[in-house]
Amino acid sequence: MHAVGCPGGLAVAATANSARPWHEAWAQAQVNEFYRRNSPTDHFDTAIAHADRIAAALMKMLRETTARMPGSAGITVVDLGADSGQLLRQMYRINAADEHPIDHVRWVGIDLRPRPFDLPAHIEWWTGIAPDVLRLMAPEGICGMVIAHEWLDDVPCPIVQRDDADVVREVWVDSVTGVESLGPKLDEDSPQMQWLHQWWWPVRYRGEIGLSRDVAWATVCASLNVGTAVAIDYAHTREQRCAGDFDDGTLVAYRDGIVVRPVPDGSANITARVALDSCAAAASPSQLMQQRCVLDEPRWPLPHQAQLDPHRYAADFQRATAALTLRQRSGRGDFWWLRHDVGLRRP
Ligand SMILES: C[S@@+](CC[C@H](N)C(=O)[O-])C[C@H]1O[C@@H](n2cnc3c(N)ncnc32)[C@H](O)[C@@H]1O
Repeated sequence: MHAVGCPGGLAVAATANSARPWHEAWAQAQVNEFYRRNSPTDHFDTAIAHADRIAAALMKMLRETTARMPGSAGITVVDLGADSGQLLRQMYRINAADEHPIDHVRWVGIDLRPRPFDLPAHIEWWTGIAPDVLRLMAPEGICGMVIAHEWLDDVPCPIVQRDDADVVREVWVDSVTGVESLGPKLDEDSPQMQWLHQWWWPVRYRGEIGLSRDVAWATVCASLNVGTAVAIDYAHTREQRCAGDFDDGTLVAYRDGIVVRPVPDGSANITARVALDSCAAAASPSQLMQQRCVLDEPRWPLPHQAQLDPHRYAADFQRATAALTLRQRSGRGDFWWLRHDVGLRRP
C-alpha cells in the first residue's frame, strides 16, 4: 500500500504502521501514561491556582441548589478530575467558616491519580476513570453537586481534516513520532458526521468532533438524582466555530508549562477546547454562562489603606489581581460555565 499526498503535508494513511485515530492514541496516552506519572500542576496552570474565587462561587451555587432541593437528603459534592483536591479543600473551608454551614456533606474527589498524600480525612477519594467511576461511587445516584473543572477538555475526541478533494477525513497519528496522516473518509450518515453538520460546519480545514464530550457530560448529569452538575472549561460556541475562529482546530499539548507539538506518547498533556454548547444540548435544560459574568468583581483596597496597614493592603491587592485575572477578556474570563439542574424547585 502507498501513501497519497495531500495539502498541509498530510498523506492518506494506507500502511500498516503504528498510526491510529487521534482519539484512540490520545486516550491511551492520557489515561495510561501522562496522568499516572504527572501532576497537572507540574505542567500547566489552571484557574484552580486561584481556587478560593472559584470555590466561593461554587459554594454560592451549592447553597442555592440545596435551598431549592425538595426533602432533606444528605448532600454529596463530587469533583471530577480533582487532581490535588484543592477545590474541595477550599469549598470545605468556606463551608466550615460559614455561620450556617451545610451539614453532613460528603466531599468526594475523583481522579485517575492516586489520593493526594496530604488530603484531609474528611475528603473521600476515588481513583478511577470518570465518568464510569461515578456508578461505583454512588450506585443509587447523587444528591448534591458534581463539578467538572477543566475535565471535559481532557476527554479525547476525534480530529478531522478536509483533504484536497474536499473530503472530510479522520486524522490519524503515530503515537511515537506524532506524524499525522489522513484516515478514512467519514461516512455521511455516521453520528460523527451528523455532529459536525449540526455543530461545526463547514469544516474549512481542521475540526474536532465533540460527541465523546457530549456523552461524558450526559453521563455525569444522569448520575444526579437531584442537584446541580457544573462544567467549567475553556470552550467555543457554534457561532465562533462557524465564523471560522477555530479553523485550524484547537488540539494542543502542554509540557513543563509550555505549549509543545501534540504527540500522544504520554510525555505531555493533550487537550482541546470543548464545544460546551453541544454538551448543553446533550443534557438540557442547561445554562451556559461566561466566567466573567459568574464571578464577583474584584474588590480593590483603597489607596490610603497602603499606609494604614501595608501587609493587609498587599494581600488585598493580590487577591483583587487574581480575581481580575479570572474575569479578563481573551483570558480566563472567556471560560464558560455550563450548569444543569435536576429536580430542583423553581428559584
Ligand atoms: C486539566 S487537569 C484539571 C485539574 C483540576 N480540576 C483543575 O482544574 O486544576 C485534569 C485532571 O483530570 C484528571 N483526569 C483526566 N481524565 C480523567 C478521567 N477520564 N477520569 C478521571 N480523571 C481524569 C487528570 O488526572 C487531572 O488531574
